[in-house]
Amino acid sequence: MTPSHIAFIMDGNGRWAERRHMPRNYGHKMGTKALERVVDLAIKYEIKTVTFYAFSTENWSRPQKEIDTLFDIFRNFLSEIDKYKSKNVKLHFIGNLGRFPQDIADSCAEMTAQTCGNTGLNVVVAMNYGSWEEITSAVNRIVAAGKQTVAEEDVKNALYTAGLSYPDVVVRTGGEVRLSNFLLLQSAYAELIFINTLWPDFDEKEFVGVLNEYASRVRKYGGLKKADAKA
Ligand code: IPE
Ligand code: IPE
Ligand code: MG
Repeated sequence: MTPSHIAFIMDGNGRWAERRHMPRNYGHKMGTKALERVVDLAIKYEIKTVTFYAFSTENWSRPQKEIDTLFDIFRNFLSEIDKYKSKNVKLHFIGNLGRFPQDIADSCAEMTAQTCGNTGLNVVVAMNYGSWEEITSAVNRIVAAGKQTVAEEDVKNALYTAGLSYPDVVVRTGGEVRLSNFLLLQSAYAELIFINTLWPDFDEKEFVGVLNEYASRVRKYGGLKKADAKA
């Protein structure tokens, strides 16, 4: 089975650059190239949705100089709207964009609006995203709507991911084996794949490796494997 939705924790940019005695920022730039490569691969392999973790709510603790470079990388990505339009990509952003400089938040809104009619690959970019912030803001939204009790659907609809599918598989590059506050609820039944390759090196071979690894997994959702259920 091919996954319908793959989410990527794009980790290892800094180490990739440091190994080349280059500034960490160079790693982030090359990380953007890997993102573009993965968008093309997702189209080629007919994946419906890819999510990229671009900036976490904890990444504000990085040096301001690195944050400023990341802002410039986001600006550059957001200026390339025609590229995504021509690929029939539909862009979505999840996270609290309000903490970014206004021009970045505006460009995200503009890019969402300009691609919302597209029918191809869904590309979801998580920016200033953290599951705890997401849950907290969802609860606040529900409270503001005056609800006394909530159903599961109310919670789902108040999350940033309302209307989007949930990942079938979460892939983390860079060797760390943790989720770092990423889509904790939405990944409740996702398959997890951790690979040592640093994000800027993620290529077609790695992508196909992810598809093969996913195909080998048995998803049971708390039930039984199909063969066992018959016994
Ligand atoms: C991930 O790469 C990109 C962001 C968190 C923005 P890192 O910058 O965390 O790279 P490493 O983990 O230090 O190598
Ligand atoms: C996770 O990477 C966040 C993104 C990829 C945007 P980090 O490098 O920030 O995660 P930790 O600090 O190693 O957990
Ligand atoms: Mg990291």
